[in-house]
Amino acid sequence: MDHDPAPETSTPTYTMGYGPEFRKMLERRNAAVAAAHLLPQLEHGMRLLDLGCGPGTISVGLAEAVTPGELHGIDMEESQIDMAREAARAGGHGNAFFQVGNATDLPFEDASFDVVHCHAVLMHAPGTQAVLAEARRVLKPGGLISARELVGDSSFVEPDHYLGADAGAWATFLKLLAANGGHPQMGKELKRAFADAGFADILATATFETFDSAEDLAFLRGLITGWFFAPETMEAAIKLGLATQDTFDGWRDGLDRWMTEPGAFAAFAWGEAIGRHP
Ligand SMILES: C[S@@+](CC[C@H](N)C(=O)[O-])C[C@H]1O[C@@H](n2cnc3c(N)ncnc32)[C@H](O)[C@@H]1O
Repeated sequence: MDHDPAPETSTPTYTMGYGPEFRKMLERRNAAVAAAHLLPQLEHGMRLLDLGCGPGTISVGLAEAVTPGELHGIDMEESQIDMAREAARAGGHGNAFFQVGNATDLPFEDASFDVVHCHAVLMHAPGTQAVLAEARRVLKPGGLISARELVGDSSFVEPDHYLGADAGAWATFLKLLAANGGHPQMGKELKRAFADAGFADILATATFETFDSAEDLAFLRGLITGWFFAPETMEAAIKLGLATQDTFDGWRDGLDRWMTEPGAFAAFAWGEAIGRHP
């Protein structure tokens, strides 16, 4: 393969980690929702690459959409690849293949995919253009690039005063993401990033993932408690000067009160884009 590895642009500090609480978040995902912008473009027989596939909950739906074409998933973390392989085995997706790999140094030949997709990966990878250059290299001419990424500033928790409003828990999470080399607003920057990488015919859209039912709110509380209030997350934020133990303790109390608030409602905003290899 005629490309230079770029290890300095990989993802040295992945903010979310691989613990059980955040894994539950990924397990809620599926292609029907998380790749709704891409599914109408997929055809049986296509060869599709899912960058940063995580536990494969989206990948298996993509595999279904391109069968008997191949779905390849790569992730830098072996535990995620093990889970993705198990999800494919359990679902009978014999056309889904997973391997450990880095999005900035893909183990694939030039011009070997019809589609390269990623979900919630460019927001974590420091080198956006390094990832997109690799995606472009492995795409066939005319192939599709697709992504769906968080728009941090358009996401909300309502009412927001329980978690510290504008200078509160959500803002601290976004700053932590940025401190780790991530891009908290990537969802609204995708169109520009694809254009800068030389893709054509770019279409950008945006959607909300909402948390409204008692079950959704309980899930969110579990995620915030188990991940954001986990000792390692708090320690990282405190070390960076983004919060103190007292502010975390205040948000923890606020979260309990927010759960009993009749107007409790939250949403993550996502930006999506599709472009074409010229
Ligand atoms: C938030 S998870 C998203 C997983 C999956 N796409 C989903 O949305 O359910 C981000 C994943 O990207 C992977 N990742 C981050 N940077 C990467 C890189 N440079 N190369 C390969 N995988 C990467 C992480 O290991 C993690 O599994």
